[in-house]
Amino acid sequence: MQRQPEPEVMDLEAEVKAYAEAGFDEVNQRFVGRLLELTGDRAKCDCIDLGCGPGDIAMRVARARPHWHITAVDASRPMLQCASDAAARSGLSSQIVWQEADAKLLPFDAGSFDVIYSNSLLHHITDATAVWREIKRIAQPGATIFLRDLYRPADEAAARAIVESHARGESDLLREEFYRSLLSAYSAEEIGAQLGAVPLEGLQVEIVNDRHIDVFGRADIYARRS
Ligand SMILES: C[S@@+](CC[C@H](N)C(=O)[O-])C[C@H]1O[C@@H](n2cnc3c(N)ncnc32)[C@H](O)[C@@H]1O
Repeated sequence: MQRQPEPEVMDLEAEVKAYAEAGFDEVNQRFVGRLLELTGDRAKCDCIDLGCGPGDIAMRVARARPHWHITAVDASRPMLQCASDAAARSGLSSQIVWQEADAKLLPFDAGSFDVIYSNSLLHHITDATAVWREIKRIAQPGATIFLRDLYRPADEAAARAIVESHARGESDLLREEFYRSLLSAYSAEEIGAQLGAVPLEGLQVEIVNDRHIDVFGRADIYARRS
């Protein structure tokens, strides 16, 4: 099945609300668990969340690693407003900076971050290679990189079956967005080609369940640049 791109930025009020209220506790906690396995317990860390959405993952990371500084970016102003309100209610405002930015063209210096992570951003972006290029540019030597996203099912029936099995109790809007996201997702081969085009070497691409794919590792970026 061909990729069917969905809109890049999520800035409709209804979708921000639906996404913020969705039951993502378990899936988000699993993401954070895997991230912290990959990073280990770094004493000091500048960390960036790309496409942070309503901020639940950034806040979980902040609670688990109170000594880390987190920059959470999204291209959607309403998402960021929702995230920063939630962080203020949770007393996490001083640990997380919420910043409006495009992951394809980030306003940060080269080598700014020790940990770069993202959940469910890549499938929104048609020029995905631009995101990988920015990740390479903003990574410190030895930075941990971890992106998790959906991968595209074989056909529309398979996509519908995944929605049925994982989002049965969610709102119609969220179920439809999940379906469109599956059709907009990349295959492992396409992600491999994006990394090769940068090039961004040293990362592993691994299908981890019926819908998620992980890209992770510590790219020895500076050594490869010279
Ligand atoms: C499916 S949501 C995931 C949100 C969050 N990472 C999570 O897992 O809960 C994708 C987010 O990426 C944002 N996004 C899409 N394109 C972007 C871009 N080019 N730069 C930054 N954020 C972007 C959307 O606005 C949306 O908030």
